[in-house]
Amino acid sequence: MSTASKGLEGIVAAETVLSFIDGEKGILEYNGIAINDLAKHSSFEEVAFLMLNKRLPKKPEFEAFITDLRGSYGLSDHTLSLIKSMPTTAQPMHMLRTMVSALAMEDPEPNSIDIPEVRVKAVRILAKAPTIVAAFDRLRRGLDIVSPDPSLSFAANFLYMLNAERPTHTMERAFDACMILHADHGLNASTFTCRVITSTLSDIYSAITGAIGALRGPLHGGANEGVMHMLNEIDSPEEAEQFVMNKLAARDRIMGFGHRVYKSYDPRATYLKTLAEQLATDTGNADLYAKSSAIEKTMAREVASKGIYPNVDFYSATTYHSIGLKLDLFTPMFALSRISGWAGHALEQLDGNRLIRPSADYVGPHNTQYLPIEQR
Ligand code: CMC
Repeated sequence: MSTASKGLEGIVAAETVLSFIDGEKGILEYNGIAINDLAKHSSFEEVAFLMLNKRLPKKPEFEAFITDLRGSYGLSDHTLSLIKSMPTTAQPMHMLRTMVSALAMEDPEPNSIDIPEVRVKAVRILAKAPTIVAAFDRLRRGLDIVSPDPSLSFAANFLYMLNAERPTHTMERAFDACMILHADHGLNASTFTCRVITSTLSDIYSAITGAIGALRGPLHGGANEGVMHMLNEIDSPEEAEQFVMNKLAARDRIMGFGHRVYKSYDPRATYLKTLAEQLATDTGNADLYAKSSAIEKTMAREVASKGIYPNVDFYSATTYHSIGLKLDLFTPMFALSRISGWAGHALEQLDGNRLIRPSADYVGPHNTQYLPIEQR
């Protein structure tokens, strides 16, 4: 009889001071601060500092951090030529995973596991990832790459590089809030991947590359794109109820609902719902919000009693669409923010590292006779 815990559910495999989740009460805090307060009053850059340093910055520290982060937005000629060599049909998550891996090759000390040095590398990766995504997106649209503007915030600079025009304050704030909400979330699959790789004393580039690979799965960060595909399949808000009923009857999953930890409303979804409604109304996407709302209503009636509620990905889809992002950039958006959390966890893992090496119950046969290939 196997004692394996499928999906490692309920297994505590690390200690962290970065994020706290109470799945029953719907609470998420970064280092003790409620996510709602951070989304309303902080900035993604401040949250990124928190992830890398386990606390909020004081003013001079924050100024130095911003100078360093924004000063690292640029890409080398080598990196740019690699992006230019990518097939324009490549999926952005595959491109991003490849390019983060490639950044290691221009670091003279890629393998350092010295904590302050790894922190510096993490800032570089965090700063360059949006430039990589925006450059690739412009190239595949047949447009010139827009160089980063170090006078702009992380959020504003990304939208500027994508659209070749500065975003409005509302768009910058909305995108910044999305980045804050996605920065960290306990020992989720990609963060665990990052910690496992770090625990072998491999390098930060490998750890983040592996995490990007884990994130893109449809049961994890890939769900936000799944939500948008679903919304595109539904012609009108009136048809949403029947769509959901058909899916549930076929025992299909509704993307953007359910969570391994939350059995109540995901607090990130609460914030994003309000943001999605506002942005959708302002940008002529009210119908998209109405479809989302109708899906949520049906899901609440049918499955909320099982603890299935909207998760972070559900209203992210309407929000990102209203900000003007292409569908296949939704999961990369998640990654751009989560790099801060992954890096924070890598630093925590390095501090007092122990190789992560669980066991497996062997459930195969024993004493099997080896047969030469002709006799099998
Ligand atoms: N739609 C319909 N039914 C669902 C859903 C859903 N989205 N999620 C869970 N259920 C049902 C599931 O069918 C099962 O029912 P029953 O007990 O009758 O067989 C029950 O709820 C428990 O499901 P589970 O698969 O044991 O739960 P889990 O903890 O393994 O799943 C999950 C968590 C996120 C994989 C799952 O809820 C899911 O597949 N959701 C859709 C994908 C999604 O939105 N993923 C993003 C997660 S949040 C962001 C992130 O972390 O990346």
